[in-house]
Amino acid sequence: MNILITGGAGFIGSHVVRRFVKNHPQHNIYNLDALTYAGNLENLRDVEKSSNYHFLKGDIVDANYINEIFNTYQFDGVIHLAAESHVDRSITDPLAFVKTNVFGTVNLLNAAKAIWVDDFSEKRFYHVSTDEVYGSLGADGLFLETTAYDPNSPYSASKASSDHFVRAYGETYGMPYVITNCSNNYGPNHFPEKLIPLFINNIIENQPLPVYGDGKYTRDWLFVEDHARAIDLVFHKGRNHETYNIGGFNEWQNIDLVKLLCQQMDVKLGRSEGTSEKLITYVKDRPGHDLRYAIDAGKINKELGWEPSVTFEQGLEKTIDWYLNNEEWLNNVTSGSYQEYYQKMYN
Ligand code: NAD
Ligand code: DAU
Repeated sequence: MNILITGGAGFIGSHVVRRFVKNHPQHNIYNLDALTYAGNLENLRDVEKSSNYHFLKGDIVDANYINEIFNTYQFDGVIHLAAESHVDRSITDPLAFVKTNVFGTVNLLNAAKAIWVDDFSEKRFYHVSTDEVYGSLGADGLFLETTAYDPNSPYSASKASSDHFVRAYGETYGMPYVITNCSNNYGPNHFPEKLIPLFINNIIENQPLPVYGDGKYTRDWLFVEDHARAIDLVFHKGRNHETYNIGGFNEWQNIDLVKLLCQQMDVKLGRSEGTSEKLITYVKDRPGHDLRYAIDAGKINKELGWEPSVTFEQGLEKTIDWYLNNEEWLNNVTSGSYQEYYQKMYN
């Protein structure tokens, strides 16, 4: 197959590209990425010379360009990850999220439809989505595939909208699709604006750890390579026109997670116990902050035998080690415009 992976230079996308390039030499992998602040080709240095890997620099919002590459490369499959992905940025600039996450997705659907419409067999449009489309849980309960959409942030509203478009193309035009809705990922190559990599970086730099509100918000964390493995399984074996939830069975209140991270970092950095915890600073809450996300991943487990393979303690240690061993990567992404972003967001 000729497979288009969008957003392959980003956090999750780079792990998906690496997995497909290495584990599926029978497929040609085309990584399409606009290389926004979140896209980084350094993430893919180890596979960039592989004969089944190709990089295309381009913007999914540009319909002409998207149609052109579908005509040129005749993709049989699409795994769509390109997105604006940070909730806090969506609060300051919602339209950027509408453009990439909604218009961009519809451009890809149109381009796929145009070349597949005479024969949809053996074709697949895989849309990578998030558990945030379901809104917020209270103290109990889990998100199921049947949970009603109830997005609360401009980010989750744009992802919900793109999910609806994918489904609508399935119903209206017969587009063969699968959608997955995953919980919070963590691991190597995560851009340090999100909780775990930001706090690792700040601990290294002895900077405050800005915990939003009372820190009692809960997320369900999954190691990124386990997500990439789930995507591989669903792409090859998932049922057409189905949605699968993916999660870590691993809920943490932010403040407990931050304390665990501080303890592990103190050990790794040879600092005395309690040093990093002193950096914890409670700051103004995120507007519209969702209280709790938690996934019921029973469907993908039952149908495809998927489950997480890495415990949180193992995954967090691997993640910390990666950041400590990749200082240059961290320095490169936290210089320049990152500094401006950080000042604007946190000061
Ligand atoms: P990311 O922000 O790290 O990477 C996004 C990538 O998309 C970057 O490489 C960026 O350059 C590229 N991109 C952005 N706009 C583009 C455009 N207009 N055209 C082409 N490329 C563009 O994101 P991530 O955390 O890796 O998330 C990837 C996908 O997975 C997203 O769709 C996100 O909604 C979804 N998701 C993320 C998580 C998570 O915890 N990070 C969880 C569930 C689902
Ligand atoms: O649930 C899946 C989603 O997880 C993905 O769809 C998003 O793309 C991804 O960014 C992530 O969204 P969150 O908003 O949950 O992730 P973030 O790392 O931004 O925040 C995690 C929690 O930590 C959340 O409750 C907010 C809090 N937080 C975050 C930051 C950046 C803080 O307390 N302080 C911070 O500085």
